[in-house]
Amino acid sequence: MTKTNIKICVLEKKRGNFAINEKFAHTEEIIDTTHQEVQHHFDALTEAGYDVIKLKWSNNIGTDLKRLNVDLVFNVSSIVETAILDDLMIPYVGSDVVGCVIATDKALVKNLWIMNKLPTSPFVLAKSLEDCDIFETEKPFDYPLFIKPSQGRGSSGIDKNSIISSFDQLKEQVKRRLTTINQPVLIEKFLSGREITCGIIGNGERIRALPLLEIIHKGKNQFLTFDNKEIDNDSFQCPANLTQKQTHDLQNLAIKAGKIVNFRDYCRVDMILTETGPFLLEINSFAGLMCTPLEKPHSYMGFMAKAQNKKSSEFLDEIVKEALIRIGQ
Ligand SMILES: Nc1ncnc2c1ncn2[C@@H]1O[C@H](COP(=O)(O)OP(=O)(O)O)[C@@H](O)[C@H]1O
Ligand SMILES: [Mg+2]
Repeated sequence: MTKTNIKICVLEKKRGNFAINEKFAHTEEIIDTTHQEVQHHFDALTEAGYDVIKLKWSNNIGTDLKRLNVDLVFNVSSIVETAILDDLMIPYVGSDVVGCVIATDKALVKNLWIMNKLPTSPFVLAKSLEDCDIFETEKPFDYPLFIKPSQGRGSSGIDKNSIISSFDQLKEQVKRRLTTINQPVLIEKFLSGREITCGIIGNGERIRALPLLEIIHKGKNQFLTFDNKEIDNDSFQCPANLTQKQTHDLQNLAIKAGKIVNFRDYCRVDMILTETGPFLLEINSFAGLMCTPLEKPHSYMGFMAKAQNKKSSEFLDEIVKEALIRIGQ
């Protein structure tokens, strides 16, 4: 098939992190950039030579996709989308429903990494406020702690109170998250170090890591809250300033972490490099892919594309090609 014969549908569905933070911050004024992202993907894939259409997610999604005779769906970003598309047997770019479920649940993925002897911070999962009590009786690990929603993304539910130094504070902040976000809260050790993220592309033998990106926190920021992620205050170094060996080791760790989740086509693994070595934070099965604006792309993967001198059309085409190889087209 030539590219012009491949019909790609770019889906438009509000990303989960905006919805979570609307609940947490009690406001509907969170800036939702889904529309901008969809336009970016539409333009890039059109420039890459595909026959591209945009489609808003609705209850009629199955009928719409069949009517439009779509070959491949792009910009899937949630469990619901993967489950419905799997059921409809419509091919899409990115991880399947199982990979997406595992990646979405930070506690589940951490357990899999621990079972496979990969480094990640110890944790307690608070499903109710009483689950915090262990820190009063027999502390499993020392303060400071770091708390976040177990199924958050884009730093939703993370603010300056996510770093915890006392039992009272732990109870108060876990309670706030349990009652607003309505998800179990992950209590981890606070990891102090350099924040590194690694993009990965490909399947099977073709799996490869992209240049590492370091997020350098400015001023008194020590970690990425929803607000400072949105304001884009931090600076980014890609490739990260690391030795060849460090780079190689972190990329290999990220690839191992990704394979355990069975990601497909692309993903991104977040880590913190501490004085005692790297710790895996989470895996993003549907990492953002915006490569614009050129000087400061709206996604971490965009910085990695930039470091490789790739335009958005080339970068997205690279990922689509991996999906096409996987589905045998
Ligand atoms: N255990 C931890 N110690 C220190 N900082 C953390 C820890 N876990 C998360 N963070 C900070 O919070 C940010 C978001 O956490 P992450 O697990 O990547 O979730 P998400 O990006 O899905 O919201 C990270 O980029 C990092 O700055
Ligand atoms: Mg993250």
